[in-house]
Amino acid sequence: MRVWRPIFRRVLFGTERRLVKLVIAIVRPEKVNDVLEALYRAEVRGISMSRIQGHGGELDRVETYRGTTVKMGLSEKVRFELAVSDAFVQPTIDALCTGARTGEVGDGKIFVVPLEQAVRIRTGETAERAVTPLGK
Ligand SMILES: Nc1ncnc2c1ncn2[C@@H]1O[C@H](COP(=O)(O)OP(=O)(O)OP(=O)(O)O)[C@@H](O)[C@H]1O
Ligand SMILES: [Mg+2]
Repeated sequence: MRVWRPIFRRVLFGTERRLVKLVIAIVRPEKVNDVLEALYRAEVRGISMSRIQGHGGELDRVETYRGTTVKMGLSEKVRFELAVSDAFVQPTIDALCTGARTGEVGDGKIFVVPLEQAVRIRTGETAERAVTPLGK
């Protein structure tokens, strides 16, 4: 049984390897609740978030007594990480935009990255099964 279990698991779960993406979103801290609500409505459930500092690329000109210099100021942002199956990528992006957009500069960015593997530690499930909410 010890020999067969990993083979059995690979046959069951291994073919779904490529179907997971990591969606990373940098948003305004004041839009976090709106983002969470939009994600909940889109049935995206597995969420990690952290406070970060970021810079969007714009340069502030600062006058100094010897001339003009530029300053790269950092602003407080919140970073969401969501591992989702391929079918959930677009609904996740739509929800993030709905929740995070104000229309002003600095609304943030979304990056989608292929995910090599995902594992639910308790069960050993991998890939798409590891990111699908239980009970579905
Ligand atoms: N190219 C990037 N790489 C990594 N993080 C980025 C990048 N661009 C933006 N960010 C992150 O997103 C945050 C918000 O960026 P921001 O919304 O200002 O982007 P932008 O391209 O300047 O768009 P806008 O013109 O709407 O301001 C930044 O503070 C930073 O944390
Ligand atoms: Mg900007």
